[in-house]
Amino acid sequence: MKVDLERFRLRHFLESLGADELERREAPTDLADVAQALEGNPKAVWFTRAGPEGAALAGNVAGSRSRIARAFGVPKELLLREVLERLKGEYPVEEINSEIAPAQQIVLTGEQADFTKLPAHLQHGLDGAPYISASVDFAFDAANGWTNVGMRRIMLRGRREAGVDLNAPSDLRAIYQAQLKRGEPLPIAFAVGSHPVDHVAATMRLVGDELALIAALRAAPLAVVKCVTSDLRVPADAEYVLEGYLDARGYAEPEGPYGEFLGYYGAVKANPVFHLTAVTRRRDAVFQTSTISGRMLARTDTAQLNALRAEVIIWRALESAVRGAKAVYATPASGGAFNVRVALESRVPGEARNAIAAAMGCLVNVKHVFVVDPDVDIFSDEQMDWALATRFQADRDLIVASGFRAVPLDPSLAGTRSGAKAGFDLTLPFLAQGQPRPMEHRISGPPLYEGRRFASVEAALADGPKFFAELMAAKGSRDGREIVLALETLQRSGRLARDAEGRYGLK
Ligand SMILES: Cc1cc2nc3c(=O)[nH]c(=O)nc-3n(C[C@H](O)[C@H](O)[C@H](O)COP(=O)(O)O)c2cc1C
Repeated sequence: MKVDLERFRLRHFLESLGADELERREAPTDLADVAQALEGNPKAVWFTRAGPEGAALAGNVAGSRSRIARAFGVPKELLLREVLERLKGEYPVEEINSEIAPAQQIVLTGEQADFTKLPAHLQHGLDGAPYISASVDFAFDAANGWTNVGMRRIMLRGRREAGVDLNAPSDLRAIYQAQLKRGEPLPIAFAVGSHPVDHVAATMRLVGDELALIAALRAAPLAVVKCVTSDLRVPADAEYVLEGYLDARGYAEPEGPYGEFLGYYGAVKANPVFHLTAVTRRRDAVFQTSTISGRMLARTDTAQLNALRAEVIIWRALESAVRGAKAVYATPASGGAFNVRVALESRVPGEARNAIAAAMGCLVNVKHVFVVDPDVDIFSDEQMDWALATRFQADRDLIVASGFRAVPLDPSLAGTRSGAKAGFDLTLPFLAQGQPRPMEHRISGPPLYEGRRFASVEAALADGPKFFAELMAAKGSRDGREIVLALETLQRSGRLARDAEGRYGLK
């Protein structure tokens, strides 16, 4: 099978974006100004001349749900469904020769491999150094022969040394720690400059070979190429690849501080050292940076990627816990998991609470779960606010539970390792099947004028009781006042009745 080496190229994805999604900066931009240009920017930014070398640099590429959805070729409402569907697929991973691998058009090894020749910029005011953040890592898991893929930031510390954060629980951390027990360094490679689909794949944590996961999410075969200084295989269509190893000294050097994915800084930590052995790249490569932190998390790559990953995990938990989950949304403004919304068609009383328990339990990052009926749009902050205001009694519908494992970066924990979770049941009182919703629980909206036509208001009422709007529809009225007059006539003749719901009828 011939694999298309251009289709999932970052440069082509950027070229496919219109002015609504992409800000193209042709003017020279100092690396010192890159962070400010990206801060809170709803668009991806393509700096065509970054730094004195005039490098091509793209940022915030996956920083909106609509851009990620575009990368998957679907409207954003269908993104989760598409990802869940693609996760079921299988596509081959095919190795190709170095000579035809675009990611190795230029190969720099030894002294030529140099972090300080890459357009890495300082992202946040208190960061320890410039970081490479759109870095997708590839490492072998000796336990099963699979390639593990993740995203890990790289803190520049010199020409060929950098810090990599391996503190949070992850497969790579486990792989590295097993390697440390053997006293051996861990070969690792980072792709920088990738299609958003690859970033989605990298942030998923699923069992299996994660090169195959990239292929599955692309819904296309994946071409890989062997690294020039290790046996690792990396996507052959990446813009840049940074090859090297994590040394066997373990958590040996300070790394950080760094603006973290909850919007605050993470402190300096002891972390492993990455040694750079090669930089390979396309001839016209685009370097990439991911946005991570600050007060506008909803416009960052990290929160958007985290949200999608959380939704996949929560959706699967809901599938086994309750039957009627209709939609799930991890709000990116909360970091993409802390606040989770679920639309649920309850089939029996109590299911909203089961949904809350399932969502709370399936992912450490989930902290607050809001469950609504399917008539509330969970993607709308306004509608969620309305549901909280009108469908919630705090003494009845709030579930608070303490002592859960928590994300240490959450500043509200005040240093403790476990924390509280809360569930908000925003569903209306449960109705047995076929039982109509009482008038006071029905959502008002403009009239729709649906129903059969009749020769007269009287004929319509003889057919059965009707609301005023149905009487207008019955007469094809585009006004309404003539219906008032017809009802007045019936009223005067003593024949007009009204039922408990307010429908008109005949006595
Ligand atoms: C832009 C970005 C940067 C990230 N940086 C790190 C990091 O430096 N350290 C870390 O432990 N996780 C980081 N993550 C989260 C991991 O990539 C994520 O947990 C992934 O699923 C881990 O993969 P693994 O368990 O297969 O190793 C980052 C995520 C994103 C989106």
